[in-house]
Amino acid sequence: MQILNNFSLRPFNTFGIEAIARHFATFSTVEELKELLSEASHSTKNNLVLGGGSNILFTKNVDGFVLKNELSGINLVDEDENHFYVKAAAGENWHKFVLFCIQHNYAGLENLSLIPGNVGTSPMQNIGAYGVEIKDVFVSLEALHKKELEIKIFTKDECRFGYRESVFKSEFKDQFVILNVTFRLNKVPVFNTSYGAIQQELDKMGIKDLSIQAISQAVINIRSSKLPDPKQIGNAGSFFKNPTVDIQFFQSLQNQFPDMPYYTTDVSHVKIPAAWLIQQCGWKGYRKGDAGVHVNQPLVLVNYGNASGDEIFNLSENILKSVQEKFNITLEREVNIV
Ligand code: FAD
Ligand code: EPU
Repeated sequence: MQILNNFSLRPFNTFGIEAIARHFATFSTVEELKELLSEASHSTKNNLVLGGGSNILFTKNVDGFVLKNELSGINLVDEDENHFYVKAAAGENWHKFVLFCIQHNYAGLENLSLIPGNVGTSPMQNIGAYGVEIKDVFVSLEALHKKELEIKIFTKDECRFGYRESVFKSEFKDQFVILNVTFRLNKVPVFNTSYGAIQQELDKMGIKDLSIQAISQAVINIRSSKLPDPKQIGNAGSFFKNPTVDIQFFQSLQNQFPDMPYYTTDVSHVKIPAAWLIQQCGWKGYRKGDAGVHVNQPLVLVNYGNASGDEIFNLSENILKSVQEKFNITLEREVNIV
C-alpha cells in the first residue's frame, strides 16, 4: 500500500479537471482502507473516497487523502425460486458488472447498461436510466464508518432512496465508505421497454425475440448517440437533476410556455426536463474558453480540454440564475462538488 504525495487527479475524474491531492492511495482490502483512514485521521481531517470519478467536480485541490476504491469480487450469494442474489464489491466497474449479470442471465440491470462509475457508488445517488433505478433491484449494502471503523449493514429502507438521492448524499454524507452491494435479480426477466426510444431502437435493430441482451444493446446504442464519451470530451453526465414542481405551479407555467414538456410523477407533481429549460435560456452549445454546454444535450456541462473546476462551476451558477429568472425554478446540481 503506497501513499503518493501531490498527486494529479486529472486522470481520475471524467471531467478531466486538474486538481492535486496532497496524498493519494488505492485500497483493495477493507484492512487497507482501515489503515488509510487511521493514517488520514492522524495527519489531516480531510479524506475523500473516489470511485470512477464520473460524478464529481473538483473546484480545488484536496488538502488531505484521496482514497481510490479498488475492492473487487462478484459472487452469487443466494438464490430462491425466482431470484438470484448477487453481491458485488464496491470497486467493480458498474458496466462490467451489468455485462457479467447479463451473461449469466441475471435479469434486472439491462436498462442501466453503460452508466460510468463503480458498483459501490451506484447507491449514493440511486443511479437510474431508461425507467429503472437501482432501488428496484437493491437488497442491502455494507459500509464502513469512517471514524468508528465499524461495518454497518444498510437495508433498502435505511438507504432512503429517492430520485438521484440516498442517505449517503444527505444525513450520512462523507461518513461511510460503501464496501459492497447485494442485488436481487430475476430468473425470469421482466422486460422494460416502455421508456424513451428503447422500443424504437429494438425495432431498428430488427429484434424479434426480446432478451435482456437486446435491451442492453439498445440502451448502449441510444446512450452512445446522445451522451458525450468522457474519453473524448470531459463531462460527468447530467449536471443538474430534472426539477419536480407542484401541479398548480406547473399549470401557471404552462399558460406562459405551452410547449413545455413534462412527466407526471404523482397526482400533485410533475417533472420538467432540465435540458429543455436550459435550452430555452439559450445555453445549448454555449462555450467560453474550454467550459461549455454540450451541443446535443444541454444538461451535460463539458470540459473541452483545459477548463478549471471553477470555470465549470461558474457556468453552472449562470445557468442556475437564468433558469431561475425565466421560469422561477431552482435547478439542483446532481454532480458532487468538491
Ligand atoms: P465518483 O465520481 O467516484 O464519486 C461520486 C461521489 O460518491 C463522491 O462524492 C465520492 O466521494 C463518493 N463515493 C465514491 N465511492 C464511494 C464509496 N464507495 N462509498 C462512499 N462514497 C463514495 N448517473 C445516473 O444515475 N444515470 C445515468 O444515466 C448516468 N449517465 C452518465 C453518463 C456519463 C457520460 C457520465 C460521465 C456520468 C453519468 N452518470 C449517470 C453519473 C455517474 O455515472 C454515476 O453517478 C455513478 O454512480 C458515479 O460513480 P463513480 O464511481 O464514478 O463516482
Ligand atoms: N431535451 C431538450 N433539448 C435537448 C435534449 C433534451 O429540450 O437538446 C428535453 C426533451 O424534452 C427530452 C428531455 O429533455 O425529451 C429528456 O431528455 P433525455 O431523454 O436525454 O433525458 P434527460 O432527462 O436529459 C435523464 C437522466 C439521465 C438518464 C436519461 C435516460 C437526469 C438528471 N438525467 O436525462 O441520467 O440517462 O434520463 O433515462 O435524470 C445522469 O444522471 O447523469 C444521466 C445521464
